[in-house]
Amino acid sequence: MRLSLLPVLCALISTAVAAKSVPKGFVTRKGSRFELDGKPFYFVGANSYWLPLLTTQEDVENTFKEMQGVGVKVLRTWGFNAINATELAGATQSGLTYYQVWNSSDWTLNDGPQGLQRLDNVIATAGRYGIKVILAFTNNWVGYGGAELYINWIAGAGNTHDVFYTDPRIISSYQRYVKTIVDRYKNSSTIFAWELMNEARCLGDLPAGPHCVPGSGTLHTWYKRQSDFVRSLDPHHLITTGGEGHFYWKRPVGYWLNGTFVSDYNFNGQAGEDFDADMQLENIDFGTYHLYPQFWYPELDTPDSNFTIESWGSGWIKDHALAAKKAGKPVILEEFGVSGLANKTHIYPEWVDLALASDHAILISIGTVGLKENGGNRLIKYADALIDGASPNDGFAIYKNQTAVWNLFTRAARIQAAKSV
Ligand SMILES: *[C@@H]1O[C@H](CO)[C@@H](O)[C@H](O)[C@H]1NC(C)=O
Ligand SMILES: *[C@@H]1O[C@H](CO)[C@@H](O)[C@H](O)[C@H]1NC(C)=O
Ligand SMILES: *[C@@H]1O[C@H](CO)[C@@H](O)[C@H](O)[C@H]1NC(C)=O
Ligand SMILES: *[C@@H]1O[C@H](CO)[C@@H](O)[C@H](O)[C@H]1NC(C)=O
Ligand SMILES: *[C@@H]1O[C@H](CO)[C@@H](O)[C@H](O)[C@H]1NC(C)=O
Ligand SMILES: *[C@@H]1O[C@H](CO)[C@@H](O)[C@H](O)[C@H]1NC(C)=O
Ligand SMILES: *[C@@H]1O[C@H](CO)[C@@H](O)[C@H](O)[C@H]1NC(C)=O
Repeated sequence: MRLSLLPVLCALISTAVAAKSVPKGFVTRKGSRFELDGKPFYFVGANSYWLPLLTTQEDVENTFKEMQGVGVKVLRTWGFNAINATELAGATQSGLTYYQVWNSSDWTLNDGPQGLQRLDNVIATAGRYGIKVILAFTNNWVGYGGAELYINWIAGAGNTHDVFYTDPRIISSYQRYVKTIVDRYKNSSTIFAWELMNEARCLGDLPAGPHCVPGSGTLHTWYKRQSDFVRSLDPHHLITTGGEGHFYWKRPVGYWLNGTFVSDYNFNGQAGEDFDADMQLENIDFGTYHLYPQFWYPELDTPDSNFTIESWGSGWIKDHALAAKKAGKPVILEEFGVSGLANKTHIYPEWVDLALASDHAILISIGTVGLKENGGNRLIKYADALIDGASPNDGFAIYKNQTAVWNLFTRAARIQAAKSV
């Protein structure tokens, strides 16, 4: 369906008949669970930021076939890909996908064949494979052009990361992009949800400033404003933060390191989020959390530490299950990872079982083999490359030949499907 007046009309009647007015095929929330066409919707999904960067339809389809083989129902990908104008010539030549070009305080849109038409195609293809899409509007990190480009081009070099959330010029530039994306796809039942930012934090690749500290509510205020803004553009699709799920608890949580009690930034508000408060926002329909303890606590990852990666992760899943219950909204274990296949094989079963038992959806990183463009080899950007037909691997991709983990996720998808009737 592609109507421009319908959303306005629906917004007017939505207070009276909210559930009924949602178009067929849109995912909705009922209390703590997702629903699709009147049935509960539990799922295993896939993270693939690199999918819109593929250049041939055959490779896009191969990727969706691989996902479908596992039983994946939802794809999360970036709704952004921004570059500096200085990168333009190289990008055009290498076939890089880019949607925004920065060369002043006003980015320009690329909605051409190497731009948003690639995202159009990914979304249309997802729809044909029965897979819904979560789109993030920007990144906390520099990867594929996030907050730092807005900050550098609008506020200027030397600013701290958190001006992204407070500078009115940056907010209106971000909203101009958000509106571009939402208006483009708001008719589509293939969209599962909009995501305000990947992993919003007080700090990014730039340091945090004095106005984003525990208790300042900087991110909470930004989440509220931006979720209200998206809701004003689109009455029906779900909206989420895309955050890592950091807490702001009053009671101290920490660990002993060399005889010193270290307050834990995942719980003390230092990262910027307040998961419990953010879940209460009217237009945040569900929560997200990420899980990378091995990278978050490298100093604790020692043989004589009482800390184990598994137990920390399981505690984090339980904490979010409890918070979700309090808020009465669903949550997604949206990203998780440990390094090395042996670690994955050993640790993932406990986390996956616990997340599923908590009624959380999970998103995994599915890698694809057999990609054909450029003979299966192509340097994309950063360290991302197709190598011998294998999709980019950030260390967390799972390929079909990694049978134990692959089967774990296939089984998880079956369990979720069995609950979705
Ligand atoms: C929404 O759908 C209607 C009817 O299918 C179409 O006419 C309209 O152009 C679409 N709007 C957008 C923004 O795609
Ligand atoms: C983009 O260009 C600006 C201005 O030249 C520069 O400061 C910044 O580092 C560049 N950013 C990236 C991600 O290349
Ligand atoms: C960026 O802007 C500068 C100054 O206006 C201009 O000289 C330059 O050609 C622009 N670069 C690109 C790639 O558009
Ligand atoms: C803990 O103390 C030991 C011994 O003094 C030292 O080698 C180590 O670097 C310290 N670890 C941290 C993370 O400070
Ligand atoms: C490690 O020990 C500290 C201090 O006794 C304790 O607070 C913490 O809960 C322990 N961590 C784990 C994972 O057992
Ligand atoms: C597996 O995890 C352990 C403990 O964190 C780590 O030391 C090791 O390097 C990991 N293995 C690989 C291959 O990354
Ligand atoms: C599985 O396939 C990937 C991608 O081609 C490759 O990097 C890896 O070495 C293969 N084998 C295992 C055991 O992961």
